[in-house]
Amino acid sequence: MKTPEPIVEIAATGRYLPSNVVTNDDLASVVDTTDEWIQSRTGIRERRIGPDDLLAAEMGRQAAAQAMERAGVEAGEVDIIVVSTATPDRWLPSTACDIQALLGCDNALAFDLQAACSGWLYGVTMAEGFLAAGRGEVALVVATEKMSNILDWTDRSTCVLFGDGSGAAVLRPSDGQRGILSAHHRSDGHLAELLHRPAGGVRQPLDDTALQSHDHLLKMSGREIFKNAVRSMAEASDKALQQAGLTGDDIDLMIPHQANIRIIEATAKYAGIPMEKVYVNVDRYGNMSSASIPVALDEAIEEGRVRPGMNILSATFGAGLTWGAMVWRT
Ligand code: ACO
Repeated sequence: MKTPEPIVEIAATGRYLPSNVVTNDDLASVVDTTDEWIQSRTGIRERRIGPDDLLAAEMGRQAAAQAMERAGVEAGEVDIIVVSTATPDRWLPSTACDIQALLGCDNALAFDLQAACSGWLYGVTMAEGFLAAGRGEVALVVATEKMSNILDWTDRSTCVLFGDGSGAAVLRPSDGQRGILSAHHRSDGHLAELLHRPAGGVRQPLDDTALQSHDHLLKMSGREIFKNAVRSMAEASDKALQQAGLTGDDIDLMIPHQANIRIIEATAKYAGIPMEKVYVNVDRYGNMSSASIPVALDEAIEEGRVRPGMNILSATFGAGLTWGAMVWRT
């Protein structure tokens, strides 16, 4: 397949991470676990955990403001704000509207997108479509995840895996050289119960029983998720590479979702991409759900690992189940 001409580009990125570092040893005093177990199973050494009253919207505002400043975009120029979060500050209205108000983007439409860990990549594709249709000139795609507020801190099989963080990007129409070459996204709602928060909505309202059984917090079937993650990210990477008319050999840098080093290694191996070409920060932040990819991208840019003319592949996977991959040229 011929490589398509990009219509929309990622113009600039930003990130926000709470300053409080929580190591595996710190967690060993909270649940029955060890640094050795966590590192050998996941590759995670530490994560950032914000204070209880730090809002997802405030984290998102900081990441978005940095991306806007780097893109040279004023608040009034933003046409659309897409916010991915599995940890909204409240159920109604959206965290996106709170971020809009905090930033003063008074000419934008703003809404939340719920696709768990895949949400930022989904959001980039939604914003790409909006800009490609000529509905606006500047899009802000933010992922903001305050995972520590939805974790069960008595469940060692989940609480050691996640961290807090936020990442953002400004998208603009492309000059035809740089930009998004392809994207492939899918979901499978039949597997919803593998990773979910059962209570707190219409299906199972929040009551004393739910609170006592911790049903309002995140629950996960780790092994099943692991198998599905590797299969789905590999399939999505294949499809995105095909659409872009490229193979793994053409990829200069892979920036995958950062859930577990073993999932990252398996996905990279399947796509034929050596680990030297894969950006990894799961060791420092754990799984920040949909914020993982934009934070990793922002760090990779800052470290000089992203240079003009590179082909980049991102692949992701999350609750829903949802998954996807995207290829773009810098
Ligand atoms: N410390 C010590 N022991 C633990 C811990 C812990 N933190 N957690 C679980 N164990 C124990 C279990 O109880 C189990 O004990 P048992 O055999 O006596 O019952 C034992 O360790 C082995 O458990 P497994 O589930 O077999 O361990 P596995 O090697 O599969 O690793 C893990 C578990 C890390 C959760 C892995 O399955 C995984 O990474 N799954 C994917 C999780 C993921 O990435 N989720 C997010 C993706 S989607 C998204 O990003 C939202």
